[in-house]
Amino acid sequence: MAVRHFIEPNSFSLNEQLALLDLADRMEKDPAPYAHLCDGRILATLFYEPSTRTRLSFESAMLRLGGKTLGFAGAQLSSASKGETVEDTVRVVSNYADIIAMRHPKEGAPLRASMYARVPVINAGDGGHAHPSQTMIDLMTIRQRKGRLDHLTIGFCGDLKFGRTVHSLTAALSQFEGNRFVFISPEDLRLPRYVKTESLEPTHQVYKETDDLETELPGLDVLYMTRIQQERFFSEEEYLRLKGCYQLDEDMLKLAPLDMPVLHPLPRIDEIKLDVDNDPRAAYFDQVHNGVYIRMAIILALLGIPNPVTGKIVLN
Ligand code: CP
Repeated sequence: MAVRHFIEPNSFSLNEQLALLDLADRMEKDPAPYAHLCDGRILATLFYEPSTRTRLSFESAMLRLGGKTLGFAGAQLSSASKGETVEDTVRVVSNYADIIAMRHPKEGAPLRASMYARVPVINAGDGGHAHPSQTMIDLMTIRQRKGRLDHLTIGFCGDLKFGRTVHSLTAALSQFEGNRFVFISPEDLRLPRYVKTESLEPTHQVYKETDDLETELPGLDVLYMTRIQQERFFSEEEYLRLKGCYQLDEDMLKLAPLDMPVLHPLPRIDEIKLDVDNDPRAAYFDQVHNGVYIRMAIILALLGIPNPVTGKIVLN
């Protein structure tokens, strides 16, 4: 059977994505039946860029499935620092591990890796492009909070130009009927053109662009905040000009519906003030919690391991 990879949200069909969410929900409620499904399997985490949540939650997911992990947490700690290519690295690591999670600063690097690996490759974030496992976490959290993934008005706020989680979640939510998208950012950090042409326009999604968060808050069903991505700016001066442009606090939240969850992929800097953390609408630590179960589900899906409770596999 052909090896499947998870490079973008639509690497999986919509039915496969929904099956993955269902599996993650089941494991979140009752993890015990899944504790030994990956006995004897190894996950490699190849992280060429910093991470706390993604790398540690992939490792936690594999350990909770009974497997083991190996890897590196920075290009300088691998032979990439001596000039080894991603292609050679994954050819090598395919001998050491059954599945690979890769984060890389260069857009397209995990896709390139998937062409040379003999085992499944998961894109754990590539530059300003995509972050599909985060997207599945975001979908799980929205579905838990709102009970649906369709007919929602979703506000994305902050750095929409470099925010890969925004690009992937926009693609994923465009698969569902009746969603409306409100993209809130400074002019210089607007959503890239390709996200509109590839995700929004083919399915005739309704969207608007604005720089005014406060005016939009009362009409949102979901708010997705993002950090200004300092590491992707070409000049420090430009970053300093734009940093701190949105700062959500409890006073601003008074304008928003009482059932509007606030999501953020984290890490945050100052775009969500600490006083929001105790508001029941704060959903960003739910996302962190869900991350482990989503990544357990991704590992099981790509390894073709059936759910022992239902007998079903996620990928067709
Ligand atoms: N959300 C996310 O990707 O966080 P990390 O950069 O810490 O992995």
